[in-house]
Amino acid sequence: MSKTIDQALQNEVDKRRTFAIISHPDAGKTTLTEKLLLFGGAIREAGSVKARKANKHATSDWMAIEKQRGISVTSSVMQFDYNGHRINILDTPGHQDFSEDTYRTLTAADAAVMLIDVAKGVEAQTIKLFKVCAQRGIPIFTFINKLDREGQSPFELMEELEQVLGIRSVPMNWPIGMGRELSGVYDRMKTQVELFNGKDHSTIEVQKVEDYRDPIIKEMAGEFLYDQLCQDIELLDVAGDPFDYDKVLRGELTPIFFGSAVNNFGVQTFLENFLELAPKPEPRRSTAGMIDPMNDKFSGYVFKIQANMNPAHRDRIAFLRVVSGKFERGMSVRHVRVGKEIKLAQPQQFLAQDRDIVQTAYPGDIVGLFDPGIFRIGDSLSQGSDIIFDELPTFSPEIFAKVTVKNALKHKQYQKGIDQLTEEGTIQVFNTVSFDETILGVVGQLQFEVFEYRMKNEYGVDVQLQRMPFQFARWIITDKVDASKFRINSTLVKDKKGNHVVLFENEYAMRTAIDKNPDAQFLEMAP
Ligand code: G4P
Repeated sequence: MSKTIDQALQNEVDKRRTFAIISHPDAGKTTLTEKLLLFGGAIREAGSVKARKANKHATSDWMAIEKQRGISVTSSVMQFDYNGHRINILDTPGHQDFSEDTYRTLTAADAAVMLIDVAKGVEAQTIKLFKVCAQRGIPIFTFINKLDREGQSPFELMEELEQVLGIRSVPMNWPIGMGRELSGVYDRMKTQVELFNGKDHSTIEVQKVEDYRDPIIKEMAGEFLYDQLCQDIELLDVAGDPFDYDKVLRGELTPIFFGSAVNNFGVQTFLENFLELAPKPEPRRSTAGMIDPMNDKFSGYVFKIQANMNPAHRDRIAFLRVVSGKFERGMSVRHVRVGKEIKLAQPQQFLAQDRDIVQTAYPGDIVGLFDPGIFRIGDSLSQGSDIIFDELPTFSPEIFAKVTVKNALKHKQYQKGIDQLTEEGTIQVFNTVSFDETILGVVGQLQFEVFEYRMKNEYGVDVQLQRMPFQFARWIITDKVDASKFRINSTLVKDKKGNHVVLFENEYAMRTAIDKNPDAQFLEMAP
């Protein structure tokens, strides 16, 4: 292989940053994403992403939109360039769109940006998404948003990150005042201040300073805020964690940035620091050992499948994360599970709103593949070899329903639908040990709605879903499984691979079972 091609691939890998923004609804993810896209010139006006989001409010609307547009307003990857970097932001839907896909998408990210509302602190959905990132050990960068509002003190927020999420933090910048008093942020790394100008906070001025004691800050922010800043930074310098890049990369220390997305305040410095610190695409584990992005043979894996809701177009889009080599439109690759060569025609890439046909893509990029029903979540594709990437984890469902078919004569189609939709990862299926009933498990309500809709439209089967009171699923590993132990506020079931799983109605029942069965292991993800 010639050196020039390697160098070209190296340059492409080096400049890529692929990440997801994790947050609780309303923390400002749409606003922040929009500002980032504006910096990259990927959209021209503020409001474009917002408009898209407004379309997504109710599930019924979502179905209607899917129908109109063909596929996938809900699934998106946004790509743009900034300062010589190629950035891929993976969308992690929240609200009604929250589903197991949201978790699976995180497996395709090399880093996460955790967005937190300064007043609300760490919220429920953030905790769930954080756990998935922490499990993978990817670096997590924190952006504390809405600094123009009254909120908790930065020290309280740092404490909360440690108490609730168990992660230490290192502030990269520090607010000068907060809420109505907010006059700027002091950048500890670049020793510069970013100051709001004018009462309406309409302009932002960036000024290089000696350090936080620089009289320029006093002049611009006033004596009171200046003194406060000096005290805070002195305390941080003495008692805070030092910046340790290795710990950041291992996900043990999160760099914190303060800002206000809606005012575009602190966003640019955040982006620039983030791009410097976030990792480029890393090697991934496979049956053939670690696969380096610089491997000259293309490889990748499918992490999400988005079905078309339009009955006239039953095709789907499989989202592929490129792991190594160069992807080219029309190339032939090995579909490892099926053991066949396939041609990747009509690949699509996802920009802010419109989908483009991709000609080439590189490690870190996400490509949408036209899927006539040949892909499953976790499938590996590779050029010329049979490597299989690590299986994607199965996440613990939180909502459960018993499913039955309304018309018994349709049992065959019903079974086919369940099998296929389970394989696609639309829902998880469990069978009770005692009565062989079928229980579906999901992470978000939307998954049930999609399941019902697709069973009817693709398999012609009306199903009945009856909600069950369970809230937790734990895979149980023990020498001898005894169903009689799990009768009160719990039940024993099997997943589709035959693993035993206990469903619990509440945390108390789960804790009690764990305490009473010290020899058993209860796992949050499938073994
Ligand atoms: P999400 O995607 O995380 O759900 O949040 P989104 O960006 O939609 O933001 C939620 C609300 O928070 C929006 O207000 C948005 O304008 C506001 N917001 C975002 N960033 C900031 C900030 O830095 N400061 C303040 N004060 N507000 C912020 P909304 O009233 O729901 O919508 P809109 O009418 O303002 O668009």
